[in-house]
Amino acid sequence: MKKKRPADMTKSLVKVLKDWQKLEDESISHADATIKKTKNKLVKMTMEMIKNDSQKHRIMQQLLIDSLTRESLILAPEDLGALSENLNKHLAAEAKTLELADKALQNSELFVTRYILSYLIADEQKHHALLTKLNELKRATVFVT
Ligand SMILES: [Fe+2]
Ligand SMILES: [Fe+2]
Repeated sequence: MKKKRPADMTKSLVKVLKDWQKLEDESISHADATIKKTKNKLVKMTMEMIKNDSQKHRIMQQLLIDSLTRESLILAPEDLGALSENLNKHLAAEAKTLELADKALQNSELFVTRYILSYLIADEQKHHALLTKLNELKRATVFVT
């Protein structure tokens, strides 16, 4: 297969992101339909979480689309340098959260408890990883597009 030109790649990427956004909307309506249909709190919570994630994904996809079609996203070292102290404190708090989450999991036996805790832990690990990555970028200039 012939390699695509950068401009064509951007066009394809924007198309994929727009299709993806449509699927996020579909996911939100499915979640809403299930929320309306059930009285079970655990199912409701799961649907709410998925719905929130879909809304969040939509915003992220839009940011990417805008960065590809309007204005590039740039992350300069000085953007992060001034935030260094905050970021480090935040990172420490997230690390502590992970310790607590682990302790909670060790003290849980019920399937449902572990189900919710494992979701929380995955999220907290994600927060920690995102902050770690931002922290690592302090020394580099990154062009996202
Ligand atoms: Fe999604
Ligand atoms: Fe967190």
